Amino acid sequence: MSPAAASHTVPIELGERSYPIHIGSGLLTDPVAWEGLPRASTAVVVTNVTVAPLYLARVRQMLQVHYTRVVDVVLPDGEEHKDWHSLNTVFDHLLGQACDRRTVLFALGGGVIGDLTGFAAACYMRGVPFVQLPTTLLAQVDSSVGGKTAVNHPMGKNMIGAFYQPQRVLCDLDVLRTLPDREYSAGLAEVIKYGPIADAPFLDWIEANLPALMARDPAALAHAVRRSCEIKAWVVGQDEREGGLRAILNFGHTFGHAIEAGLGYGEWLHGEAVGCGMVMAAELSHRLGLMPAGFVQRLRDVAQRAGLPVRGPDLGVPRYLELMRVDKKAQDGEIRFVVIESLGRAGLRGAPDALVGEVIAAHAG
Ligand code: NAD
Ligand code: GLY
Repeated sequence: MSPAAASHTVPIELGERSYPIHIGSGLLTDPVAWEGLPRASTAVVVTNVTVAPLYLARVRQMLQVHYTRVVDVVLPDGEEHKDWHSLNTVFDHLLGQACDRRTVLFALGGGVIGDLTGFAAACYMRGVPFVQLPTTLLAQVDSSVGGKTAVNHPMGKNMIGAFYQPQRVLCDLDVLRTLPDREYSAGLAEVIKYGPIADAPFLDWIEANLPALMARDPAALAHAVRRSCEIKAWVVGQDEREGGLRAILNFGHTFGHAIEAGLGYGEWLHGEAVGCGMVMAAELSHRLGLMPAGFVQRLRDVAQRAGLPVRGPDLGVPRYLELMRVDKKAQDGEIRFVVIESLGRAGLRGAPDALVGEVIAAHAG
């Protein structure tokens, strides 16, 4: 299968769970991009009230060619709805419409819809196929790829979930035109992340092309999404279930999660917290003697130019430390941070609380 000539395919190599990520303009309405999906009588599109009026009709039109019945589940919008209740709404529709185990689920939306739909697919009748149709930049470069699916629990974000890979990911770059600026910048944080952790020349490229990226130039966006997906595919292909290497994808996330949780989810977007968290993690890499001071300034500049906040909120050092101890990477109460060991190479390290406190004091409040 090869969708429109201008599109590009990045393979995720996971043996029998391998799948393609197709990236290009106009993929949602390119008939070729929809060929070869699992055969079934019913397709179920899970989306939300914001995305449905924008893109549901065109997705339904494509699905009606291949499936006898197309069912929609339109959920409320927001991270607060990535929960058990929404998951049950999906199951209510699936059972209410007598969907069998060959039914294919389609996640049309950002990371919230993608994570929730993937988890619903993992659970329904012990697993049905699903396809990711990511509509945010963050979802195209990160959350739709790699099979992490989850819903939130009142006691923790993404705490109930499964590793469950999609059959295909279709990244239609055109849908990013309707994304609000703040959401777009949040997605750029995850793009920037890939440079320091895995590809120094990609960081050079991002810096040089930030004006084009901020203008949502199609060629610049195509390269950014493609290179991000290639790096994520390379990492996930080696460590699907985060036994080790995959943790590097969490660069900036330990500080970032503390910011998100400390302020209350939704105050800062996930990508905004990650952008600021990367500056703090760069500072920690510097204070551990791994990276020069200029690296911290470099990340600060690129994050700021991408429209991201670069100074953390004043939660107080003890609260930051407390929140970081519940990070999934913590072991026996010790916080472990993704640090940059050299440009393009990351590792996981512990650090004394006093040193982490200095980092927070330098970049928050
Ligand atoms: P989101 O899904 O909440 O989408 C952001 C906002 O943009 C929403 O209001 C949404 O309705 C709207 N939107 C989506 N597409 C649009 C479009 N094309 N035009 C206009 N508006 C549009 O947020 P997100 O940043 O995409 O995802 C964040 C979620 O992803 C979090 O729950 C996070 O935990 C998860 N995540 C998962 C992974 C993973 O590996 N599974 C990785 C990173 C983040
Ligand atoms: N977003 C981090 C991961 O997929 O592992």
